[in-house]
Amino acid sequence: MEKTRIAVLVSGGGTNLQALLDAEGRGELPSGSIRLVVSNVKGAYALTRAETAGVEALTLTKKACGGQAGFEEALQKALEARKIELIVLAGFLSILSGDFSARWDKRIINIHPSLIPSFCGKGYYGLKVHEEALRYGVKVTGATVHYVNEVPDGGQIILQKAVDILPEDTAETLQRRVMEQAEWVLLPRAAELVSARIQNEKAGNKA
Ligand code: GAR
Repeated sequence: MEKTRIAVLVSGGGTNLQALLDAEGRGELPSGSIRLVVSNVKGAYALTRAETAGVEALTLTKKACGGQAGFEEALQKALEARKIELIVLAGFLSILSGDFSARWDKRIINIHPSLIPSFCGKGYYGLKVHEEALRYGVKVTGATVHYVNEVPDGGQIILQKAVDILPEDTAETLQRRVMEQAEWVLLPRAAELVSARIQNEKAGNKA
């Protein structure tokens, strides 16, 4: 059966992208194939990771595209040209419009570094999420993979994993533990689950 064609959207270092590429390399993404990486930030290290893995990498910035609408139009064209069927947001730190997410209903997943509905929504990204968890004083945090809809971090939850917070944690040590124990495990697993679901839908449509 043809594999689900995946695009990964990134903005930064790309450790979650690396987890996906490594999982595919180990045969742990049997239903999907990573075909494209798109960064909305010039020079993001994630682009180098894609190139090293032999995956096509593109940079599309809002600035170069003349704003959000132009960015999404260019993105849509790039995705269509490569027949992409699933978008994985892996540290993509820009919010997609409701129109775009509606067009890709149940075809975009995102990893968020907290247990949604805590510490999520507009303004909660990267290290900031962990700073807020420490400030609040919660003793357990984690990561969530969810479908993307018009509400930032508001789509249906696919997978979640809890991670303990230790008394000596800083935002940086906590971020690292959440990545190691939760994000890098959950994202490849969710990508496989959704890729398999899309494959099954295609098979059903053909029958
Ligand atoms: C990750 O912790 C990811 O969960 C988070 O940004 C980091 C990116 O790291 N995403 C969000 O906060 C989305 N709201 P990476 O570039 O090394 O994967």
